[in-house]
Amino acid sequence: MWQKKRNQFNNGTLPAFAMPETIWFVTSNTGKFEEAKLAFSDLNVELKQFHPSSFEFIEPQHHQLEFIAQSKLEQAQSYLDSKGEVANVLVEDAGLFIDALDGFPGVYSSYVFDTIGLDGIVRLLSHLTSENPNQLRSLRSASFHAVAMLSLNGTLFTGMGECKGYISTQIKGEQGFGFDPIFIPNDIDITGQSLLPGQTGMYSTHGATFGEVSSEQKNEFSHRKKAIKDIIQNISTG
Ligand code: IMP
Repeated sequence: MWQKKRNQFNNGTLPAFAMPETIWFVTSNTGKFEEAKLAFSDLNVELKQFHPSSFEFIEPQHHQLEFIAQSKLEQAQSYLDSKGEVANVLVEDAGLFIDALDGFPGVYSSYVFDTIGLDGIVRLLSHLTSENPNQLRSLRSASFHAVAMLSLNGTLFTGMGECKGYISTQIKGEQGFGFDPIFIPNDIDITGQSLLPGQTGMYSTHGATFGEVSSEQKNEFSHRKKAIKDIIQNISTG
């Protein structure tokens, strides 16, 4: 059933869709929820948080974010179907990919965050150092990737987002969540594209980590916002 709907979408056979009044975002992470709300703030959509703990949720394990997001969506939909509820459901899965570690922790980000934590990541990269700021940024380069999936009246829309940056040498800031206190984004240009380390763009945290800036400032760079905007774009073009 799901596969069929996805294929319909991929073949471009569906008409353009209107945004719904309400979307349920399946997440237990309040930080993510607040960021997603900001991404929808320009539209007349009420985003509501749907806790995975409300149903028998199995945290999927896979080497691709897309698969994990799809599994979350299917689980939430099947629970809602069993309750006779028709709902528009959003899921999102993200990870931190560190270039010097061949993309690790990537899809294992939650596990790594819960085990070695921020301190462990900073220690793992402690040998990557340089007096030259641009070389330091390149050596410690990393990116957040996000995949968002929205089931809208039974039709699936997928969006992807990436935020490039690097891992700080110290844990800084108490805003945000997860890896925010060790991630410094590259500047971005007016179109939202990440620039190269050291290039100056329209938006910059001026060397501050995501943990040191407000959620509004993080949102300018956010992989999550990009993934959701990608979905909104897909909806408007059908
Ligand atoms: P998930 O998408 O909830 O599975 O996230 C995987 C891990 O990456 C969790 O430990 C999150 O806290 C972390 N994470 C996801 N998105 C972000 C972000 O925007 N900033 C910092 N950490 C994040």
